[in-house]
This record gives sequence, structure tokens and C-alpha cells, in this order.
Amino acid sequence: MSNKLKRIGILTGGGDCPGLNAVIRAVTKAALSGGMEVVGIADGYLGLIENRYRPLTFDDVSSILTQGGTILGACNKSNPARYAVREDGRWVMRDVRDRVVRHCEQAGLDALVIIGGDGTMSGAADLIERGLNVVGVPKTIDNDLWGTDITFGHDSAVNTATDAIDKVHTTASSHHRVMVVELMGRYAGWLALHAGIAGGADVILIPEIPFDLEKVAEACTRRNKHGRGFTIVAAGEGAKPLGGEQIVDRVYEDSPDPIRLGGVAKFVSDRIEQMTRLDSRAIVLGHVQRGGTPTPRDRVLATQFGYHAYELLRTGGFGRVVVETEGRIDSIPIPDVADKVRTVPPDHIGIQAARAVKTSFGD
Ligand code: F6P
Repeated sequence: MSNKLKRIGILTGGGDCPGLNAVIRAVTKAALSGGMEVVGIADGYLGLIENRYRPLTFDDVSSILTQGGTILGACNKSNPARYAVREDGRWVMRDVRDRVVRHCEQAGLDALVIIGGDGTMSGAADLIERGLNVVGVPKTIDNDLWGTDITFGHDSAVNTATDAIDKVHTTASSHHRVMVVELMGRYAGWLALHAGIAGGADVILIPEIPFDLEKVAEACTRRNKHGRGFTIVAAGEGAKPLGGEQIVDRVYEDSPDPIRLGGVAKFVSDRIEQMTRLDSRAIVLGHVQRGGTPTPRDRVLATQFGYHAYELLRTGGFGRVVVETEGRIDSIPIPDVADKVRTVPPDHIGIQAARAVKTSFGD
């Protein structure tokens, strides 16, 4: 099969994260060594739609292992099956998959390596339907891709968020405050849960467990009564009050996935201050969580994922995405993971362990 693949394309879709370059490096070096040509597509699916790409050489991918971001550029607003175009003053979604297939044929691409999260894998499934040979690699700081226990980028984001929570601890303690730290993660609480545990947060709020503000307030006042004098709350951006809704920061009409969450830290902080009379502050870590150099664990994972993606290419394992389950790297069909979100199960060991050390989930 390997002798059939002459030229492959590689793209990084969705939001960026640490470890993307490590995958690009692994796939490119393995493919070049295996006698394939490699083409880097600019800005995720947008580059496929607009026909923007360049050849990648050993030199291009040398010394990028430790670099955050992606040398190819990324875009989290373009999906060829639902591509937003401006018509008569409004956004309309158009299916431009035929154009993408044409561009791939013109570029002589025999297969694509698509690195991304759930939205990107849905886009990949749409391209597979049009007959393209695709191999997927799971990326996202949110760790919410269905079918894999871990995505690269998550560990680095947990590391960054934990460092921030550690720093917030000292000022919270000095000023006897409640500090509500808002973490990314969209509709899944993995980032808030893991950084909350690692940073010793007193309260962790995640989308999977709607919170009762009275219970959060109780946790803060209880700590004060016991002489602790401060409380750290780690809130996932998708956390919502019991009977309430997730807080939306903005809506992008030109995106197939238009909702951006944000604002829960301020909401919780303001209410807690009113309810408890304790001084409270909201901190939003935001895109800091997506930046910086990948952790060693992410560098290893990304390199292994990249290598496995190459092996799928070499052996004709098209239409599959690399996954890690129970410590083993494998692959599953891309359509199986499309349009699904892996949330934190309520009986997850992390939740049980956090509860055992008296962390409140506001329930
Ligand atoms: O999916 C990654 C992520 O960072 C989410 O955690 C966050 O909700 C979203 O992307 C932010 O998107 P944007 O970069 O468009 O603000």
C-alpha cells in the first residue's frame, strides 16, 4: 500500500493547543523517511477551501517539537460542509466539499492527516463521505473527544491552569478572599476537574454537575468559620446553576459552531459576595490555557499519535482517528467520534477523589 501514497497533506483544525507542532513533526519526518511528499495546508479547513498549501521539508519541521501553536496556522470557523459566506448582508452556510475535493486532486494529495477536536473530526467525516482518504489525530485542551481517554494539549493546559491556581492561592490567602477562577473546556469539565484537583481548589464547578449557589456559599463560609480565611473556586466555563443555563459570552454567526461560553466566574463571584459578604474576585484564564510549550507528557503523546497516524497512512487505515484507551494507542472510525462530546461521568474517580478530600462540587 505504501508505494501507492506519493503525497499527503496535513492540517491543524479548530483551536490551537500545545503539541500540534510535535504531531506535524512526527508525521512529516516519518512520511518523508517513508518516501512520501508532505504538504502543509494553511489555517485548517480554510486552506483546503482557499487552496493554500506549501511543501514541508525536514528543515521546516526541525526544532518545532517544543513550540506551542501550529506552524501551519489554525481556524475554528471553517467546515467545508458548512462554510459561511456573506450573501445579501447575511451569513449563509454553503457546502464547498466538491471544491475541497477538486483542490486536493489538483494538489495531487493521496491522503490527508487531519489534526483536531470534535468539530474538526465532524468535518473530516464529511470529507470521507466525499471519498477522501483521511486519518485523524485527536487534539484539544478540553479532552472532550469521544472515543479516546486523552487528547494531546490537555496536559499542557492543566499544567498552565494549575500554575495559575497556585498563584491565586497566595493572594487569596493574603486578602482573605474568595477567588473564582474560570477555566476553558466548553461542555466538558475535564480541564476544571483536573486543574481544580491539582491546584487544591476548595470548590470545583463543572458542566456535568449543576451547582446550587447556596451550597457554594456554604462551602465558602464554612471555610471561614474554620479559620481558613479564603476559598478557591475552579469553575469550568460550561458550569451552570441548578435549573439555569450556561453563560454565553458571544455568538459567531459565521461559524458552524457559533457559541463561545464565558462569564460564569463573574456570575458566581458576584453572587457569592452578595450572599456571604466575603470579598470575592473573578479571574478568567482564557487563551493563556492554549499557549506555551507542550509538557513532556504532551510531547510524547503527540509524537506517538503522529507516528501512529503515519502507520495508518502506510497501511491504508483510512477513515480512522488515532485514540488512546487504557494506555494503548489504537484507532477507531472517524464517523464514530463525529458530533459527540465526551463529558466527565458522574462516578469518575477524579470526582470521587476530590469529594474524599472535602472538595465541594456545589451540589
Ligand atoms: O475548544 C478549545 C477552546 O479553547 C475551548 O475550551 C473554548 O471554549 C474555545 O476553544 C474558545 O474558542 P475561541 O478561540 O474561538 O475563543
